[in-house]
Amino acid sequence: MSSRLFSSVLDIATPGKFPRAQKWVWRRVYNLLSLFWNDADWRFMNYGYLAEGEPFPLKPEDEPERVFIGLYQQAVAGLPLEGRLVLEVGSGRGGGSRYIARYHAPASVTGMDYSPETVRRARQLNADTPNLTFENGDAEGMPFPDGSFDIVVNIESSHCYGDVPAFAKEVARVLKPGGWFTFADMRPKSQLAALDGHLGAPGLQLIEQRDISPRVVAALDAAEGRKSERIGKAWALRRFMSEFSGSKGSMLYKGLKGGSVVYVARRYLKAE
Ligand SMILES: C[S@@+](CC[C@H](N)C(=O)[O-])C[C@H]1O[C@@H](n2cnc3c(N)ncnc32)[C@H](O)[C@@H]1O
Repeated sequence: MSSRLFSSVLDIATPGKFPRAQKWVWRRVYNLLSLFWNDADWRFMNYGYLAEGEPFPLKPEDEPERVFIGLYQQAVAGLPLEGRLVLEVGSGRGGGSRYIARYHAPASVTGMDYSPETVRRARQLNADTPNLTFENGDAEGMPFPDGSFDIVVNIESSHCYGDVPAFAKEVARVLKPGGWFTFADMRPKSQLAALDGHLGAPGLQLIEQRDISPRVVAALDAAEGRKSERIGKAWALRRFMSEFSGSKGSMLYKGLKGGSVVYVARRYLKAE
């Protein structure tokens, strides 16, 4: 893909500029990716989070995906997951929902994604996890009754949405009273205040907010070798995949490192 064409695609996909086109473009991108990207040992599509200090416990078979799991581990650490009903919105290839289902003993985890091909891929990659299901659905109009879940998880997905206030309203609706909403995603620095305004739906109280950009950059550095080895195989899409995956030298990597793009984590509680 030429640099000019690539910049135009990125421009359309940028949050807030053309909301409907943005949503349409991302859906097609994820459908195509999930259709053709069939690596059985890759269950994530996030930039990762490398925690400082003592590493959190993981089984040896999950070690290769530690930095991607890290984004989920920081999102759910300390939340009351045991025996609870968990929804992940924008669950992608399903690795994050799988991590919660296998390590945190919830009653069940439902992963929801608006890309049908991605839901199909998540079902295929995670068929071995009993308390985990995947459904097709849109963050801005979820196919669940009011008060269905104790915890809603949303990781690196909201930048694709055309209407983030509608999403936050839906989160507040599907959560039970006393339920938690845990969120992580990136935005251009200039859009952070708007994001916080959009997420503060009636009934959701902000409990914790963090800038996790340095830990995401550390994860991108740590995962660079594994990513470039895979991207090397996809020669026709190398430029796109390199930008998309946040490789060193990509616009995203430079933005996060330089501070013009910020990766944030938020936790909200639904009033009792
Ligand atoms: C960058 S991927 C992250 C996937 C996963 N959370 C992870 O960390 O690996 C973003 C995901 O959000 C999904 N998505 C985007 N817009 C959505 C919407 N309106 N409703 C539900 N899912 C959406 C995409 O299909 C994609 O699977």
